[in-house]
Amino acid sequence: MTHDIVLFEGDGIGPEITKSVTEIIKATGVEINYHPYTIGVRALEKDGVLIPQESLDAIKKYKVALKGPLTTPIGKGFKSVNVQLRLAFNLYSNVRPASSFANISRYQGVDLVTIRENTEDLYIGEEHPIEDGVEAIKRITKKASERIIRYAFEYARANGRHLVTCIHKANILKQSDGLFLSLFNSIKEEYPDIEANDKIIDNMCMQLVMYPEKYDVLVAPNLYGDIISDLIAGLTGGLGLVPAANIGDGVAIFEAVHGSAPDIAGKNIANPIAMLLSSCMMLDYLGEQTAANKIRNSVKKVLNEKIGLTPDLGGNGSTTSITEAIINNLDA
Ligand code: NAI
Repeated sequence: MTHDIVLFEGDGIGPEITKSVTEIIKATGVEINYHPYTIGVRALEKDGVLIPQESLDAIKKYKVALKGPLTTPIGKGFKSVNVQLRLAFNLYSNVRPASSFANISRYQGVDLVTIRENTEDLYIGEEHPIEDGVEAIKRITKKASERIIRYAFEYARANGRHLVTCIHKANILKQSDGLFLSLFNSIKEEYPDIEANDKIIDNMCMQLVMYPEKYDVLVAPNLYGDIISDLIAGLTGGLGLVPAANIGDGVAIFEAVHGSAPDIAGKNIANPIAMLLSSCMMLDYLGEQTAANKIRNSVKKVLNEKIGLTPDLGGNGSTTSITEAIINNLDA
C-alpha cells in the first residue's frame, strides 16, 4: 500500500534531515507519496502568510504530515506556526516518548512518554495589560482535560505501559489545576488495569532527575508538559534524539522538536535522528510498525556502536554517513 502524506521540509537544516529521513524510509520498502508544501518564514516571504491556505487544505486532504524544523520569524505579531497548526486541526495531544541509548544518554533505564495537552492552558495567548504590568489567562476546560487524560490511559493500555502519572500544581492553582487533578482521579477509576498517581510539578522535576526509571507515562496540562518533555529529552541525550507527534481526531503531524539550527545549516553535519524517530511514530500511525521498529533498532545499533555519528553525538561523521549507517543496519 502506498501512503500519501504532506511534507514540510522546514528551514535551516530541515532539507538535509528530510532528505536523510525519506531515504531511510525508502530503504525499508515502505512506499510513501510525499506532497511537499511550504509553511513558516519561506511561506511568509513567498505568499505573505505563515501558513498558506493550500498547505492547510493539503493537511485536511491527506490527514498526516511530517514537518521539519521551522525558523521563527523575527518581530512582533507572529503567532507560532506550531501553535496555529495545533489549533487549526485540534491536535490536542502532544506525545513525546524518550528512552535511554547506551553510550549516549546521561541516564540509563529511562523509558518515558510525556502526553501533553496541546490546545489550552497559558498557551491560548490571551494576555492583556493591567495597571502595573500584564496578566495572562490560564484556561483549563473539562472537555480538553478529560480528552487528554483518557488519551493517556488509552495510550498506556495500547502500549503495554503500567503507570500514568498526572502532573499539576493543584496545591496553589486550586481551581484550574485542581479541576485537572480531580478529573484525573475520577477517570483513573475506569482503568483499573493501569496504576495511577500524581505529582506536583516541582517535585516531579526533582523525581525525574533523581529516579527517572520509576515513571512511565506522564500526563500534563500544556505548560508543565512543554517544560517536562524537554527535561526528559535532556535525560536521554537532548533534542537531537527525541521524537514528537501532535495527534487529534483523524489528523496527525509528526515533527522534530529541535529548531532549524541555522549555525550548521548546509554543512551536512545535522543529526537526522529526532526527525527520523518522529517519522517512526508516523509509520506506526500508518500501520507500518515493522518498518518503524527496523529503523528504531538500526538507530540503537548505530548509536551503541558509534557508527558514522554526527558531531553533536560526539562523532566526526556527517548527515550522509549516519544516514548510510542506519540504512546499512536496517536488517541487522
Ligand atoms: P536550535 O534547536 O535550532 O539549535 C540549538 C543548538 O542545537 C544549535 O547549536 C544547533 O546547531 C544544535 N542543533 C539543533 N538541532 C540539531 C540537529 N538536528 N543536529 C545537530 N545539531 C542540532 O535552536 P535555536 O538556535 O535557538 O533556534 C533556531 C531557530 O529555530 C529559531 O528561529 C527558533 O525559533 C527555531 N525553533 C524552531 C522549533 C520548531 O520548529 N519546532 C523549535 C526550536 C526553535
